[in-house]
Amino acid sequence: MSVLKNDSILRTLRGEKTSYTPSWIMRQAGRYLPEYRATRKNAGSFLELCKNTDFATEVTLQPLDRFPYLDASILFSDILTIPDAMGLGLHFVEGEGPKFSHPLKDESSIQKLDIPNVEEELSYVFQAVKSIKQALNGRVPLIGFAGSPWTLATYMVEGQGGTDFLTIKKMAYARPDLMEHILKITTESVSRYLALQINAGADVVMIFDSWGGVLADREYEPLSLNYMKVIIQNLNLMGYENTPKIIFTKGGGQWLHKQAKSGAQALGVDWQTSLSNARQIVKDKLTLQGNLDPAILLSNPKAIEGAAKAILDDYGIGERHIFNLGHGITQFTPPENVQCLLETIRDYSPQFHI
Ligand code: CP3
Repeated sequence: MSVLKNDSILRTLRGEKTSYTPSWIMRQAGRYLPEYRATRKNAGSFLELCKNTDFATEVTLQPLDRFPYLDASILFSDILTIPDAMGLGLHFVEGEGPKFSHPLKDESSIQKLDIPNVEEELSYVFQAVKSIKQALNGRVPLIGFAGSPWTLATYMVEGQGGTDFLTIKKMAYARPDLMEHILKITTESVSRYLALQINAGADVVMIFDSWGGVLADREYEPLSLNYMKVIIQNLNLMGYENTPKIIFTKGGGQWLHKQAKSGAQALGVDWQTSLSNARQIVKDKLTLQGNLDPAILLSNPKAIEGAAKAILDDYGIGERHIFNLGHGITQFTPPENVQCLLETIRDYSPQFHI
């Protein structure tokens, strides 16, 4: 294992002192970068980028080469690799996002759902992790990730994104037994998946609960949070208690007090929640990650500078803030606006680390 040259994110996850507020950007490798679009064209498709070790390594490093102020890298892959390995047939329709050829549409397909041979079926992911770690040569830590069981289930049952979630919610209310079966199988699969990513070299793992926020108040814990907790417990039991874990429920700011007891070291926060309010809830026991509205990056340097400073001011003096967006960067972002954001964070944040 190589020693990290920049371990600021790891220090912040442990609550240790850094000289500035570290940052990375959700979806930092992606379509807003012309070099990404060129590599994707070369590869032929997004899934080929994920499945080919050299391509996955190349695109993971692209944002780091362009923006030296990024303090972390994130594995180039997707949360939907797990349902793909379960045989649901992931594909991407241009302009429409992810789709499954065999979604879980009836009781018999749900009963048949089983934990895949993660090590074998997703070996391309672990190979990518190893290759990226080598290419990074200790520059910054590598974040591995997976989707939360609830969020994966929404895609598996609805068959695609962008729906109103009525199919899965109807199932959750009318057939809790089927819902539980899907969530349990997925929880076990994600646990093994993240364990193997850590084993291959991931320094941190993050669970994306992108659709936890659509759940009713009394359903969030039983249908989403509790399964994320089990994943964290499983990883700890497998000997990975020292690997920091981040959970991020988009639209989940009202449940931060519950997330704080999940066992994660850090919580993602979106732009609808104030960081200072969030900090009052988690005290300084957990690290907060967020929370710039990605839309601000479509504006201009002056507006971006103002918004970034407002977030740093809102968190205030302290060591437990990782700067990020409140959701993934949009494909329409001019790359120079990202540079402006990262420069603002580096220049303005040292006053909060005294
Ligand atoms: O952050 C990174 O740079 C790492 C890569 C990453 C991707 N997907 C690459 C990607 C990560 C962390 C994800 C997670 C992911 N994937 C989530 C959770 C985070 C979130 O955004 O809520 C979800 C819900 C997915 C499922 C998914 N994959 C969707 C809805 C889409 C289409 C979105 C879009 O922008 O069109 C994808 C495709 C995808 N995953 C792209 C990238 C770079 C765009 C693919 C392309 O056309 O090149």
